[in-house]
Amino acid sequence: MTKATFICADGARRDVDVPVGTNLMRAACDHGIDEIVGDCGGSLSCATCHVFVEDGPAHALPAMASTEDQMLDYTAAPRQATSRLSCQLVMSAALDGLVLRIANPQV
Ligand code: FES
Repeated sequence: MTKATFICADGARRDVDVPVGTNLMRAACDHGIDEIVGDCGGSLSCATCHVFVEDGPAHALPAMASTEDQMLDYTAAPRQATSRLSCQLVMSAALDGLVLRIANPQV
């Protein structure tokens, strides 16, 4: 099983199993990581799944689509160079071990 780590606002690290093909917003919500809100369910209309890519195989991340790029201009926490919307990050074997810091706040 592929794994990802979420770093919460208090610094706690949550390692979660993420099936290949599952987006990381869904994986966080399914594991009770409440700091990822995911209001729109992954339809790229809320920006409440904002994360910063902290470590791991960042080179294997999918390219950012223009719609994700535009939505990142509406995040509650300031956008950074490593910002992504986790609903757009779909787990693959190449992303095993990805580490994401959850942006705070999300709304
Ligand atoms: Fe709404 Fe990602 S869950 S943009």
